[in-house]
Amino acid sequence: MDNDRQESRGSQGSERSAGSRDGSAPGRGRAVPHPPRDPFHAHEAFLVLLRAQRVWDIDLPSFDPATAPGAPLPLFQQWFAEAVAAGQPEPHTMTLATVDDDDRPDVRTLMLHDADAHGWHFASHSTSAKGRQLAAHPDAALGFYWAAQGRQIRVRGPVTPAGPTESLADLHARSTGALAAALTGAQSEVLGSRAELAHASAVAWERARTEPAASAPTWTRYVLEPREVEFFQGDAWRQHVRLRYRRATGSVQGGDGWVRELLWP
Ligand SMILES: Cc1cc2nc3c(=O)[nH]c(=O)nc-3n(C[C@H](O)[C@H](O)[C@H](O)COP(=O)(O)O)c2cc1C
Repeated sequence: MDNDRQESRGSQGSERSAGSRDGSAPGRGRAVPHPPRDPFHAHEAFLVLLRAQRVWDIDLPSFDPATAPGAPLPLFQQWFAEAVAAGQPEPHTMTLATVDDDDRPDVRTLMLHDADAHGWHFASHSTSAKGRQLAAHPDAALGFYWAAQGRQIRVRGPVTPAGPTESLADLHARSTGALAAALTGAQSEVLGSRAELAHASAVAWERARTEPAASAPTWTRYVLEPREVEFFQGDAWRQHVRLRYRRATGSVQGGDGWVRELLWP
């Protein structure tokens, strides 16, 4: 039984009050007990903990899609600012989904470097798993989840790598740690031992400190050009609002070249 079904046993009113507005729900903000060692009881304990978790159990903002702008970028930037103001931890992190040569999906977390008229920007090694996947299948999806406001944003579209100059400028605009990480290299390769990493990392940190203009040849900035962007506003009554922007084609023109449509939640 999933959490949603378990919650839906009660009325919607009791469903809302069953949670932890006062922070007292099990599993929230409490010391974590050691799970039982035997697999059966460990799984039972896990399920108890899992089912005690709540979602959309805080005061959520309302979102009227009728007031949404004609293009997704201003709304993304507005929601980002609101996520920061709401105290959402690390709102600039997102999941990036790609597919590999066998058409198997892959996903990982990355930092958002920018969102502008060109698209959503991020950076990584072109030689990493994701870099190789993007070279072979230059289409991807990004996902943001901002729990502080029950908001999710999905972005899909083709991905283009920037050239070495732009990629290096992007890297040098970031921290010494980011440069050291990029200089460490070999991302996604099998690591022989932690000691190997410790050594390579120490060398990279030293170089990043003494040579801040050092280049990391495989470090690449990418831009995902949005073809579809969906904004999801969670609602305690499960009347979630889903607003999808689709790039308009041919004669089907929406505001700013986008078609806006609501989706069933
Ligand atoms: C919060 C967070 C931020 C991350 N940011 C980046 C990033 O900006 N670029 C990057 O290459 N990896 C980043 N990573 C590491 C990736 O999630 C991933 O482990 C790594 O890129 C290797 O992925 P791959 O093997 O699929 O290519 C981040 C991880 C976390 C948890």
